[in-house]
Amino acid sequence: MKNNSEIIFYQTQSEPNKQEDEKKSEQITNTYKISLNFLLKHNKIYLQKFLSVKEQNIFENNILKYKDSKLSNRKTVRIFNNEYEKILQIRFQKKTKPNKYNSELNKFIKNKDNSIRVIWGDCLDTLQQMESESISLMVTSPPYYNARKYSTWDNLNLYLDDMRKIIRESYRVLENHRVWVWNVGDIFDNDKLATKSTWGKRRLPLGAYFIKIFEEEGFEFIDDIIWDKGEVESKRQQNNGKDYPLYQYPINAYEHILIFHKHRLDKNKYPCPVCGSLNVNGNSQSGMGVQSWECKNEKCFVRSPKNRGKRFSLRTNMMQYKYKENEKNTIDKLTIKKWRKDIVKFSPVIKINSKGKNTLGHTAPFPIEIPEMAVKYFSYVNEKVLYPFAGSFTTPIVAKNLERIGIGIELNKTMFEEAIINKINSNSSLFSNDGNKYTEFKLNPK
Ligand SMILES: C[S@@+](CC[C@H](N)C(=O)[O-])C[C@H]1O[C@@H](n2cnc3c(N)ncnc32)[C@H](O)[C@@H]1O
Ligand SMILES: [Zn+2]
Repeated sequence: MKNNSEIIFYQTQSEPNKQEDEKKSEQITNTYKISLNFLLKHNKIYLQKFLSVKEQNIFENNILKYKDSKLSNRKTVRIFNNEYEKILQIRFQKKTKPNKYNSELNKFIKNKDNSIRVIWGDCLDTLQQMESESISLMVTSPPYYNARKYSTWDNLNLYLDDMRKIIRESYRVLENHRVWVWNVGDIFDNDKLATKSTWGKRRLPLGAYFIKIFEEEGFEFIDDIIWDKGEVESKRQQNNGKDYPLYQYPINAYEHILIFHKHRLDKNKYPCPVCGSLNVNGNSQSGMGVQSWECKNEKCFVRSPKNRGKRFSLRTNMMQYKYKENEKNTIDKLTIKKWRKDIVKFSPVIKINSKGKNTLGHTAPFPIEIPEMAVKYFSYVNEKVLYPFAGSFTTPIVAKNLERIGIGIELNKTMFEEAIINKINSNSSLFSNDGNKYTEFKLNPK
């Protein structure tokens, strides 16, 4: 037997048409008070159909922990839907648990505190031990083939194969509908495939190779932002003073900032973002791997003028509702202005001081601009941002400063430990709040 308030909740409301602003729809959603208990009752037959008995119990317990008397309807629906998504996420994680799963490592990553997580170990090895879909954003500047002394490969293909393994594993670890920001330069080097002599030297279009690899591993290529490094130190263009044709090669003064999306097709049904009903039908795939649904609850708060139900996908839900949860998710105008074009100019970090000494303890430090953009553009407050090949930990520190959980993986403990700890502990401009807090986990450092 339904009680009165339940009947009132699902009274059909005149639907705000598309042109009307959000405020109006907010008012309509708030016309009647709904509760989590009500959503549980309304969805009972669907919960029985879509969840196992055990999952139903866990879900119900989690829902009933909230004291919802003072919650707005919107908040009530958000809580219900978030908890439902969590159940399906845990199911997926169980189903795709890696053979090398390491519960200590995952506990360390999931830990509730907001410290910077320093993982000493090999990237591939670490990723293979991590829970599926447990990271919200990945950012890196990988080793650029043989550009640095500390990592070398016998030829270009061996390097690309190693990187492919990491990209493949990170597809599993990254949450669905989320982003990889991959910064790489097209370096000048010998691929060592045909010859090891100087004739084998050429521009190696690493950016292009990586786009192909990412696509083959299931990612969608979205963007290529060119980082214009301005005047860089290189003698290449001088060509020993020769001014004749077929002898001219420019200096490399750009790097790629490649943006990839993960869209794993997920056919599970998710509750309507407006009314929380699981009475939904598959609508269509709005893009590769992005499933959308249509709310079939005749009495949903929002119906189109033609009486069609609310259409939504997990991706649109995230984009439309998640940022509202915290005002710090709003991106500042300065950042948006700075990154409005696909060519952005800023200087590489100057790492050598006037006495020729490396001031940062690292031969390829990452300028703060890239992680700052990546974290602001592609993650929300409190989410986990992972940086494989962390070097001196610029990105995890920036992430922490922007109130995300910054996690980095670095193999070379001997080379970087001191630099990282100094950087984290320094009261540099990177920190405006309680930045200097970190925890470490040792896998198999060098
Ligand atoms: C190009 S640097 C990245 C620099 C970084 N962007 C920064 O801000 O310092 C690559 C880093 O990856 C590390 N590295 C190389 N191979 C690795 C591996 N298999 N696992 C983890 N770290 C690795 C190197 O020690 C080096 O610090
Ligand atoms: Zn609905």
